[in-house]
Amino acid sequence: MNENQDVRFAAVGDLHCTEASAGTLRGFFAQASEAADALLLCGDLTDYGTPKEAKVLADELSVVSVPMIAVLGNHDYESNAADEVRRTLQAVGVQVLDGEAVEVHGIGIAGAKGFAGGFGRASLGSWGEAAIKQFVQEAVHEAFKLESALAKLRTQHRIALLHYAPIVGTVQGEPLEIYAFLGSSRLEDPLLRYPVDMVVHGHAHRGALEGRTMGGTPVYNVAKPLLQRCFADQPPFRVLRLPAPRPDAAKS
Ligand SMILES: [Fe+2]
Ligand SMILES: [Fe+2]
Repeated sequence: MNENQDVRFAAVGDLHCTEASAGTLRGFFAQASEAADALLLCGDLTDYGTPKEAKVLADELSVVSVPMIAVLGNHDYESNAADEVRRTLQAVGVQVLDGEAVEVHGIGIAGAKGFAGGFGRASLGSWGEAAIKQFVQEAVHEAFKLESALAKLRTQHRIALLHYAPIVGTVQGEPLEIYAFLGSSRLEDPLLRYPVDMVVHGHAHRGALEGRTMGGTPVYNVAKPLLQRCFADQPPFRVLRLPAPRPDAAKS
């Protein structure tokens, strides 16, 4: 990567690949691969999380010639085969992050699926029935995964990769009644402690394209249905840029 160049990331989530998608995503992936230096996949990669859907997606991804980094989404867990979905994608070179971090073209990427629970003062609290506490614990656990991934990164520039939204700003446009199922402010806490240059997520198909964390970090909702609606004349991925690291820069 030339020091004067930006590193370009093509980001998209919510592909919801089905068995019927065979042959239909290649052109899209080829365009994304051509337009960027790496591909970020923000969960709900499959529709029902079946091994067959994962195989179709893996075959479609064969046209991609740049690094591929992904997190899984809630749909990828539906058939209790998330491990197989993960392995199938890993077999074709996708780096599937679940509380881990990787470095791509000198940019650090920390990834976790995230979870639901609501935002700000409307967040579900850990109180009352054991089932409620378990639900909240799941969000806390996902936030911890994100934090431990972020803590590992020493790169100059960093991206957080999620499926669920960490802020309310990028779910706006969805019905108010379902906000609490679209993400959790608990995911924002690690982003304030370990600053990143940008956050990408999916899941909120009818949300808003962009928002900011309390710390001012841009957050991009790249759910494919949202991109298709907002950028009808373009292929549904978002190209996001970060400066390539300077060769002489001390890592901070
Ligand atoms: Fe989705
Ligand atoms: Fe989702």
